[in-house]
Amino acid sequence: MQGQMYSLGLLGKVLMYIPHLEIHQVRNLQSLTVDFHSMANIIYGVNGSGKTSLLEAIYLLGRGRSFRHRDLRLVVNHQADELVVSAKVKNNDPLVIHQLGVKRSCSGNFAARLDGRAILTAGQLATVLPLQLIDAQSFNLLEGGPLQRRQFLDWGVFHVEQSYSQLWGRFQKALKQRNQLLRHARMDEDSFRAWTAELAPLGEQISACRKRYVEGLVSHIQTVAAGFDGLGILEIEYYQGWNESLSLLEAMTVDTKRDIAVGSTSHGAHKADMRVRVDGTPAADILSRGQTKLLVYALKLAQATYFRDQVGESCVFLLDDLPAELDYHHRQQVVSCLYGLDCQFFVTGVDKKDFEGLLKDSAYQMFHMEHGEITAG
Ligand SMILES: Nc1ncnc2c1ncn2[C@@H]1O[C@H](COP(=O)(O)OP(=O)(O)OP(=O)(O)O)[C@@H](O)[C@H]1O
Ligand SMILES: [Mg+2]
Repeated sequence: MQGQMYSLGLLGKVLMYIPHLEIHQVRNLQSLTVDFHSMANIIYGVNGSGKTSLLEAIYLLGRGRSFRHRDLRLVVNHQADELVVSAKVKNNDPLVIHQLGVKRSCSGNFAARLDGRAILTAGQLATVLPLQLIDAQSFNLLEGGPLQRRQFLDWGVFHVEQSYSQLWGRFQKALKQRNQLLRHARMDEDSFRAWTAELAPLGEQISACRKRYVEGLVSHIQTVAAGFDGLGILEIEYYQGWNESLSLLEAMTVDTKRDIAVGSTSHGAHKADMRVRVDGTPAADILSRGQTKLLVYALKLAQATYFRDQVGESCVFLLDDLPAELDYHHRQQVVSCLYGLDCQFFVTGVDKKDFEGLLKDSAYQMFHMEHGEITAG
């Protein structure tokens, strides 16, 4: 793809497999050490045993934050002030093992190290260990607002275009300035023109990155979805956030009065969306609960196959409560797609029986979670 830079992650590394993990003070997981399988890791146990907390700990390792709460006081064990997650991590080179660690305190302090070198931000950390999470909130990818779908697209663009997060940061800054000026009773027109002129090309560049990404992703979505029975005919359409026949500058200029009236910028990359239709109808309006979950899996798995094609590495999958809402046949299809991706995946569920017959011989490890302790078997 022209003009595209493939991210190799911070320090030139993308890590894809966690053979060994240590968790301290993440929710009810006070101190836990575990060796994982390179492919399927099934974590089962009763409600409240700590299964989602284990996925949360892995997510903290890859993203520096929780997927459940922004407030770290809720994530750190009640009796502690900070949490630590550290791991041995590997990529395709079987001879090299890297050491990755993250520490977060209740007050929000962030510290992370890869092989002894400091990682300064959660954004840098995210380039090292690409993760895909599917949990109960993932339904929002189809049922929620466009923000969820922009985040989905931005995951993909962020991991392949090295300049993307900087571009996005500059766009956000210019948007904030323009919106502040729009809300001023007596607008400084020179500043307004300057920020509009700054914002427009940034929005165009972001949109071009996303559009390229969607164009590449669509065939992967179709292929993965075709492997899941009953999903119907899918159409994916990218909406860039303003009228396609206008440049962003033209669209903003045409609607300046409206923007002043509402006090915010109504056109731009912050309004983009990815529309998903099934048999001609918006997916959220036609699919059953289980089918919605299945389509979310298809979208995320497609993203991972595209990522592997582009970067040459797999992402780590975290699947919270896979058995919920999915019948046996569809669980089987999801698991076989995960095996096909040749990635490491972590799946939780309440009942061990729900996984019987789904897993490939000797390509998995079961773990029992009980009161925040984990045992293999
Ligand atoms: N900050 C915290 N400190 C200590 N324990 C916590 C904290 N936050 C949550 N917990 C407890 O941790 C336990 C594990 O929660 P978790 O969500 O991981 O369970 P789970 O095994 O995923 O359950 P389910 O099957 O219901 O999804 C719960 O009993 C919860 O009350
Ligand atoms: Mg849970």
